[in-house]
Amino acid sequence: MELKEVIGNRRSIRFLLPHKPVEREKIQKMLEAATLSSFWGNVRALRALVIERDTAAQEVLDAIPPGTAIGGWQFRLAPVLIVWLVDWSAIDVQGDRLHELVDAGAAGIDQEASHRYLDESLIPFFKAAGDSIKSGGMTELDCGQGIAQATLVAFEEGLGTCLLGVPAQKKLRRALELPESCDILCVQTVGYPAESPEAGGQRPRLPLEQLYFLNSYGESFPRSEEVVEELKRDRMLQEPAPLPWRFDELRYLAKALDIPPIFGEEVVEIGQEMVKEMSEAQGEGEGEGE
Ligand SMILES: Cc1cc2nc3c(=O)[nH]c(=O)nc-3n(C[C@H](O)[C@H](O)[C@H](O)COP(=O)(O)O)c2cc1C
Repeated sequence: MELKEVIGNRRSIRFLLPHKPVEREKIQKMLEAATLSSFWGNVRALRALVIERDTAAQEVLDAIPPGTAIGGWQFRLAPVLIVWLVDWSAIDVQGDRLHELVDAGAAGIDQEASHRYLDESLIPFFKAAGDSIKSGGMTELDCGQGIAQATLVAFEEGLGTCLLGVPAQKKLRRALELPESCDILCVQTVGYPAESPEAGGQRPRLPLEQLYFLNSYGESFPRSEEVVEELKRDRMLQEPAPLPWRFDELRYLAKALDIPPIFGEEVVEIGQEMVKEMSEAQGEGEGEGE
């Protein structure tokens, strides 16, 4: 499948087949794709912790979050969860990564001069700017590039995934024995789709002209209809959601997978659990002097 079609097919798949395990090879392919993404200074602060429902310890399975009201049940359906992490300690050894880039011919022209420049100028600059670099968003942005590449490979491999936030993290952090230098970015549910490949159609997006500009902010980037037609032919742009039968499909899936109505009786329980965990985490954090 061409890359454009893979991009067109990628949409969050919330309904997964709970009984069908995911081959470990496919997860490896996702991780290989994440490793190849671009990262500032080749820092590579993205980490992933794969939870395999069939092999994980019960303590880890028990720590999987209840999720949000709209998406909570996905955590329970997914045969695999990837906990995507950022490890801030990677920035501390960033100088080594830069020297490797010079050795690989990927940065600088004259090797000797480039190594000297790194040691005398660039690395001291990055060290001095350490805290502002960590708060600047660039590192998380690059982690996102890795996650996006992994996601596209998952779709090419016939898997469905969805990224979910983890509002209360304490229990999960403890069960996974995460080092302090790591923050949880999000959890990706992975499995074989229970829903149709269209998954209801392509999700709503703001108009391109409203988002992107040419030469000056506010001057819309001109959207050529010819290009739009070409991308439709390439299956990157597909039928918008909702397809006429989507809501019937949702009712069918809810029945087959025993999912309660979104704003049904479960929402209260989930909300209470989240609030409880968050206040516990806050209390413990204060106690631990975090
Ligand atoms: C980093 C990230 C975190 C997300 N967290 C949640 C979440 O906590 N709960 C949820 O229901 N959806 C979550 N989503 C999924 C988005 O809501 C989803 O992408 C959106 O419904 C659009 O669907 P699409 O991915 O098919 O375009 C998250 C997506 C991303 C990228």
